[in-house]
Amino acid sequence: MSYPIVVLISGSGSNLQALIDQSLQGKLNINICAVISNKADAYGLERAKSAGIATHALSHKSFDSREEFDTELQKIIDQYQPKLVVLAGFMRILTETFTKHFEGRMLNIHPSLLPKYKGLNTHQRAIDAKEAEHGVSVHFVSSELDAGAVILQASTKIENNETADTLATKVHSLEHIIYPLAVKWFSEERLSYDNGQAILDGKAIPENGIRYHKELI
Ligand code: GRF
Repeated sequence: MSYPIVVLISGSGSNLQALIDQSLQGKLNINICAVISNKADAYGLERAKSAGIATHALSHKSFDSREEFDTELQKIIDQYQPKLVVLAGFMRILTETFTKHFEGRMLNIHPSLLPKYKGLNTHQRAIDAKEAEHGVSVHFVSSELDAGAVILQASTKIENNETADTLATKVHSLEHIIYPLAVKWFSEERLSYDNGQAILDGKAIPENGIRYHKELI
C-alpha cells in the first residue's frame, strides 16, 4: 500500500514535482493525497492538478490570526489522515500548536547548510559571507523556525563568479535529489524521530545530518 502524504506549498512547487515524478517512476511508494497552498496562484497547484492530485488554496489573508489559519489548515490536512506532511516551499511561520500536532511526522527543506543561514535570502548571504560552500538541508519541523533535527544535507562549491541566481539553480537541483530520498526513508519506516532526535535505521543521525553522496540512493 502506498504511503499517504500531504504536501504544503506557496510557490513554484519544483520539489513537489520531484516527488510526483519519482512516485510515477515507481522510485517512491507514496500517495500524495492533497497539495495545499496558502497562495491561490501558486504554480505548484497546477502541477498537482495535472497529476490528478486534490488541491486546496487556503489564503492566510482570510484569517484574523495565525492561530485561526493554522487551525483550519490542520483540519484540512487531518481529513486526509497522512502519515507524513511535507513542507515544500511553504512560506509561513507555523504556530507551536500546529508543529506539536505534527511533531515527528512533518519535514521541511531549507536552502542552506543548517544551522547556518536560517530564514530568507540564504544564497546571497552565503556569497556575501565568502563561504566556500553552500547547500540545502532536510529537517524535521520543530516549533522554532528552521531549527528541527537535520536529516540530510547536500552541498555545492561557491565559485568566484557565483550569483544568488546561479547558486539557487545549483541548490535546487540538489533539493530534487535529497528531498525525495528523505521522504523515501520515512515512508519505508527507516527514518523516525524521537524526542528531538532524528533516527535512521535505528541509529541517531548526527547534529548536522547525513551528508549526501551518490551511494545513499
Ligand atoms: C526551495 O528553495 C526550498 O528550499 C525552500 O523553498 C523553495 C521551494 O521551491 N524551502 P519550489 O517551490 O519547490 O520550487
